[in-house]
Amino acid sequence: MAEDLTITTGNKTEQYQSLLPQIKGLMEGETDTIANLANVAAALKEQFGWLWVGFYIVRSAENKQEELIVGPFQGPVACTRIRKGKGVCGTSWAEAKTVIVPDVEQFPGHIACSSLSRSEIVVPVIRNNKVVAVLDVDSAELNQFDTTDQQYLEEIVNLIPF
Ligand code: SME
Repeated sequence: MAEDLTITTGNKTEQYQSLLPQIKGLMEGETDTIANLANVAAALKEQFGWLWVGFYIVRSAENKQEELIVGPFQGPVACTRIRKGKGVCGTSWAEAKTVIVPDVEQFPGHIACSSLSRSEIVVPVIRNNKVVAVLDVDSAELNQFDTTDQQYLEEIVNLIPF
């Protein structure tokens, strides 16, 4: 496995197209989920420089109710637990679909882990028809995410063995 990432300039599609095979390479032969989540978060952060990139994993809390608990991420410290239906992450989990938020101030119930966050995309990781985690990406700028991000980020999370 090559440990150095080749960072590309160019438009968003070109950046994802350069990153995708590298992410595949990083995960080749590695079956440990946490290790792969960590490298995927690091690779996305390194290529795109977003404010926060990371995973929240669906886990059973002490009271046996499922909630999202923060997993591998890159960026400022974050909220640790999110309940189903709460915030952007909890909404993506509850609806099992990608949520794009052009302006976090316009999203009712947005959970502000960092006051610097302005826009966000959350992509569910679905296995056997069940959301097992979500990928959360936050930008310090408005309107940073669109269907190109959705398409590639969904492709990337589907590569991760869970
Ligand atoms: N903003 C997210 C919470 C997670 S942090 O941004 C890292 C939300 O509303 O679910």
